[in-house]
Amino acid sequence: MSISFDNRVAVVTGAGSGLGRSHAKVLAARGVKVVVNDLGGNVAGQGGSSDAADEVVEAITDAGGVAVANYDSVASAQGGRNIIETAIDNFGRIDILINNAGNVRDKSFAKMDLENFTALLDVHLMGAVYCTRAAWPIMLEQQFGRVIMTSSSSGLFGAHGHTNYASAKLALVGFMHALIQEGTSKNVLVNSIAPMALTRMTEQVVSPKFASTMQPEFVSAMIAFLCSDECGLSGEIVECGMGYYSKVQISEGAGIFLGDGEVPTPDDIQDNWAAISDMSDAKTYRHAGQVSRAVFRKMRDEGLVPEE
Ligand code: NAI
Repeated sequence: MSISFDNRVAVVTGAGSGLGRSHAKVLAARGVKVVVNDLGGNVAGQGGSSDAADEVVEAITDAGGVAVANYDSVASAQGGRNIIETAIDNFGRIDILINNAGNVRDKSFAKMDLENFTALLDVHLMGAVYCTRAAWPIMLEQQFGRVIMTSSSSGLFGAHGHTNYASAKLALVGFMHALIQEGTSKNVLVNSIAPMALTRMTEQVVSPKFASTMQPEFVSAMIAFLCSDECGLSGEIVECGMGYYSKVQISEGAGIFLGDGEVPTPDDIQDNWAAISDMSDAKTYRHAGQVSRAVFRKMRDEGLVPEE
């Protein structure tokens, strides 16, 4: 079955430049009606202008697509509601939400102002929460929704100077993991991407050698797949960019029991670190309850279940 969008409406936040602009254009080219949200600030999220969103709307409509602009910041509950209402007011529905808006304020942790820490949580994490909260009940009701969290390898694996950014980006994955428990049975599916693309956000750090291979469109192809009517995936994390696509997952080793029913000593833990950290039989889980059930099962297998 080929990828299709049946009369769908999408909101792409931060769609005035970089990845968001590309996502909006790629979806619009496939017939999706798009709300192009962007406050038009600089790469640190300061300032603002309607030009960024307007230019993308113009490019989409010139190409025969359908789009409207919204200039709210994602970083407030009212902003999130206004953004989703723009879709409802103009197109009567909301099917796809790409939580993409974001900015960077890099500093080593010792030198970071706490305002710059919370500012990034407000945009990346709370921005996604506000927009998703406004769209979620509508998606549940209509039994169709596709939500994307834009995470980052900085959050999944860490990066120097990125404590604020990384914290927000990994929190989005936790948000997704909990959301899928509530949405999947209603066909409201949530996935996360960790993109790699040359944009104004990354132009300082991208090697010129790879620059020509880093068009945002490589990432948008994954977005279009994940948001299509046919895609039934939920809870996936995908690293994508430059023609490279790879699933990322959180997994837990087989583990061991220490102490024979008694609390082990720290020395026991030290002595057994190799077995505790052995990932050769690692498993991944769909929800937290599966983890505790797996541990109870292992306790039973090892005869460690306490007497009634
Ligand atoms: P970009 O700076 O070109 O685009 C971000 C857009 O978000 C800008 O147009 C900006 O005006 C908008 N924005 C910022 N704060 C906003 C707010 N409060 N409300 C509404 N719009 C706002 O950067 P890029 O690279 O396109 O980034 C897009 C997303 O992808 C971000 O979440 C970023 O953290 C993430 N990302 C990008 C990577 C890359 O390789 N370019 C790597 C990993 C993650």
